[in-house]
Amino acid sequence: MEKVVALAKRRGFVFPGSDIYGGLKGTWDFGPLGVALNNNLKREWWKLFVDNREDMYGLDASILMNEKVWEASGHTGAGFSDPLIEDIKTGERFRADHLLKDHGIEAEGLSAEQMDTLIKEHGVKSPTGNALSDVKDFNLMFATQVGAEGKYKSYLRPETAQGIFVNFKNVVDTMAPKLPFGIAQIGKAFRNEIAPREWLFRVREFEQMEIEYFVKEADWEAEFEKLLFDIRAWHAHIGLAPENIREFEVPENDLAHYSKRTIDFEYNYPGKGFDELAGFAYRTDHDLKSHEEASGVKLRYTPVEGAPFIPHVLEPSFGVGRAITAVLCEAYTEDEMNGEVRTYLKLPAHLAPYRVAVSPLLKNKPQLVEKAREVFTILKKEFGNVAWDDNGNVGKRYRRQDEIGTPHCIVIDFETLGQEALELADTVTVRNRDTGEQERVGIADLVEFLK
Ligand code: GAP
Repeated sequence: MEKVVALAKRRGFVFPGSDIYGGLKGTWDFGPLGVALNNNLKREWWKLFVDNREDMYGLDASILMNEKVWEASGHTGAGFSDPLIEDIKTGERFRADHLLKDHGIEAEGLSAEQMDTLIKEHGVKSPTGNALSDVKDFNLMFATQVGAEGKYKSYLRPETAQGIFVNFKNVVDTMAPKLPFGIAQIGKAFRNEIAPREWLFRVREFEQMEIEYFVKEADWEAEFEKLLFDIRAWHAHIGLAPENIREFEVPENDLAHYSKRTIDFEYNYPGKGFDELAGFAYRTDHDLKSHEEASGVKLRYTPVEGAPFIPHVLEPSFGVGRAITAVLCEAYTEDEMNGEVRTYLKLPAHLAPYRVAVSPLLKNKPQLVEKAREVFTILKKEFGNVAWDDNGNVGKRYRRQDEIGTPHCIVIDFETLGQEALELADTVTVRNRDTGEQERVGIADLVEFLK
């Protein structure tokens, strides 16, 4: 993991947030290559779950919502808090359940009071050796004020899901969808995590890709199986090996109050082991019912025959940062090439920041540069994310492109110009990132070849 984090910083994928001021805990900034990877990942997700289907509708709701949304959803209460404990001398804050786990004591599903008792019974101390405060519930929402005098209270949304529920009626009224159907959204979410840690894994500002899939209550189990299949297909599509993914069936006593079944998709993060990557929950009709009661607005689906009813909902929920972490860990590879250790990212071509890099063999030969620009322009028009790389010698360019996961490098040489053998005129060298093998491809065939 340390190697992945170091590469991500060195090569412009992920930087610490507010770096020049010493950072801000739980925030990370995506650099030029990180934003490209991020955008590719989100575009592929949207393609797979929205564009390729007839039963999905997109949404982009506001981050700021009426505070009543969060009261109705239960987020202002104890349901959305973590157990906080403090080092009484240094004031450092910890999650009590994490501290107990570090001492080999399982605390999943326990209340703050129960954790407090366990901490006292086992004499658990702060990592500094100091005594600890009592455990108390700490709400994870960031409160904020809206309006010039801060007249209205609001929160930065802690999940994108509620934006979907409050727009259920709008989507039904405008799109007349047939049940079952889903509403999908990608967007920022914020949680004031007590102890942000492990790079992008637990942060205070992150992005989610969520679907609320509305079904008839009687169909939830069959639809759950279908979506399960689609989630597995997504993880394969982003290159995650099946042996690095585990499906954890959350036991009944640990289910969130609104859920009747939840599966956590866990990834085997290097140096950490299996931990949550994405979640998939059957949320019953809990959310629509709560919003209907609180708002007084009917949130119902009207079938062709029969009375309007509140549909039940299945929720696949993915964190972008955790997916990026898993993708980078999975892609990080070290091997030996030409007697040297080489580091490269074996990213799937549809996720790589650059689809291909184009270089003239020598940058001080105008004829080579001109021909290389011609090839670059053709590919740029077709793929968009094409790199022009003429720094250093060809060997160094290959290493650099390998390290950022560019699947192919193209070099324009004297053979391309027809100066070596006529039959090689207008052909280029295409080098494969994973094997290091090179082949000659005609410029006219390049687009097809890469596709
Ligand atoms: N609407 C359901 C929901 O938000 P969740 O399990 O709390 O469920 C869904 O979050 C996903 O969001 C997680 O599986 C994870 O990928 C991501 N996520 C949640 N909290 C996060 C955090 N603090 N940092 C990074 N990703 C987070």
